Amino acid sequence: MASRTFSKHRRKKRWVGQEVEVSVSDMAPGGWGVAAYKGQRLYVTGALPGDRVTARVVRQERGRLEACVEQILSEGLKRVAPRCEHFFVCGGCLWQHIDYPDQLRLKKAMVAFCFREAGLDATCVADVIGSEAIYFYRNKMDFTFGRSGTGQPALGLFESAEKTGRRKKRGKMPPVFDVTQCWLQSDAANRVVAKARNALRDAGSQPFDPETRSGTVRSLVVREGAFSGQMLVQVTTGSDCAEEMGPVADAIAAEGVEGVVWSVNARRSKNAAPRSQVAIRGAAQICEEISGLKLGVSASTFLQVNTRQAEKLYEIALDFAGLDGTERVLDLYCGTGILSMVLARESREVTGVEIHPQAVADAKQNAVRNRIENCHFLCGDVLELLDKGELDFPPDVVIVNPPRAGVFRRVVEAICEAKPKRVVYVSCNPETLVRDLVLFQQGGFQADRVQPVDLFPHTPHCEVVVQLRPC
Ligand SMILES: C[S@@+](CC[C@H](N)C(=O)[O-])C[C@H]1O[C@@H](n2cnc3c(N)ncnc32)[C@H](O)[C@@H]1O
Repeated sequence: MASRTFSKHRRKKRWVGQEVEVSVSDMAPGGWGVAAYKGQRLYVTGALPGDRVTARVVRQERGRLEACVEQILSEGLKRVAPRCEHFFVCGGCLWQHIDYPDQLRLKKAMVAFCFREAGLDATCVADVIGSEAIYFYRNKMDFTFGRSGTGQPALGLFESAEKTGRRKKRGKMPPVFDVTQCWLQSDAANRVVAKARNALRDAGSQPFDPETRSGTVRSLVVREGAFSGQMLVQVTTGSDCAEEMGPVADAIAAEGVEGVVWSVNARRSKNAAPRSQVAIRGAAQICEEISGLKLGVSASTFLQVNTRQAEKLYEIALDFAGLDGTERVLDLYCGTGILSMVLARESREVTGVEIHPQAVADAKQNAVRNRIENCHFLCGDVLELLDKGELDFPPDVVIVNPPRAGVFRRVVEAICEAKPKRVVYVSCNPETLVRDLVLFQQGGFQADRVQPVDLFPHTPHCEVVVQLRPC
């Protein structure tokens, strides 16, 4: 037995550390160039389709080989000079050195790659609808208060290990660098970040470490209404530190923001629900206008980050829903109910389902504010509500717009069993999208139309709207 195990180990080739020369043929999610080498598939960061590169294999896990570009021998796509001074460090805009029309072609290739990998028809993937604004398009940016490479407190974004060549340390947060100007948010928002950084320095604040429970401040989020220009700032700390927060909130409020919200989250995950959340200066919401709807937006509820492109996304979802005014629509994972309210204009009634209580409260308030009476919202986990039989079944049309993890198998099965005339799937993650589309196919639904929409210029991310019909 021992010798068999030994020979098995000997047979498994170790690739890590090897330098290889490859031609990149495809684009995988996350912006990985795909290449073949001696019968192996290699995912190469920093390489684009058409490139010939030398790359070093840096990871071999569960049959997946990952490599970093060492040298580009010939370029398949022309690189351009990035605008941002932080580009060569920042883990945010990975694609600022690629012409925007090429970025759109790469995003289409990425979605088509996922379809082919899942055995789905990739020919129905349409060209990506690009964003009119490719800079200053974000209505929300999340900044981390962490430690720089030299251990100093810094307020900004994580360094990219691929770009800096620094080794990632397992279980450790990557270094954070001070962002002085981010090209994805407005100058006014950049000024707020600078002001907050100075105030945190003056207060002697230290980054919160969930392992040791030392330090206080974790992150800063700036939200800015694309139409209203109103700003809301959320500061999250790991402990109650009201005295320290006072002068920081005053400095931020002096920048003319609508409100400063303070959240406390001592849990390991930065995304965990906060222990407390309170507006310590001004308002807890800003106003925004999307698709002709007047909205109140809170600090921590979901809102598509590119407001104008979100309008296009909702238009396509509405078109794919094919409503004639008689339908009962179920909008699963509805957030603050914006898409639900857009759908309500052309259907008999819409039921939106959402797990985040604040989002549901915002959705209900937004429906009242816009005098929409055929839209209702339920708070809870989609799967639990389904299992308890509390969802409005059978619906005529179902919309799903889940988080990156996609939809539970049981949810897909329940939708298929309800036999709606159409399902519209809005996804921000092509990998989980195709996994779920295969389940829909097994349940008798086929993807008819696939429309990628770019809400995130300069990043390898993309939204995709899919129309599914019974086959
Ligand atoms: C991608 S957002 C979609 C929001 C909305 N459709 C929009 O465009 O504004 C996904 C939403 O699903 C919610 N969510 C996550 N898991 C959920 C679950 N298990 N049940 C219900 N809602 C969930 C999140 O809180 C988030 O608001």
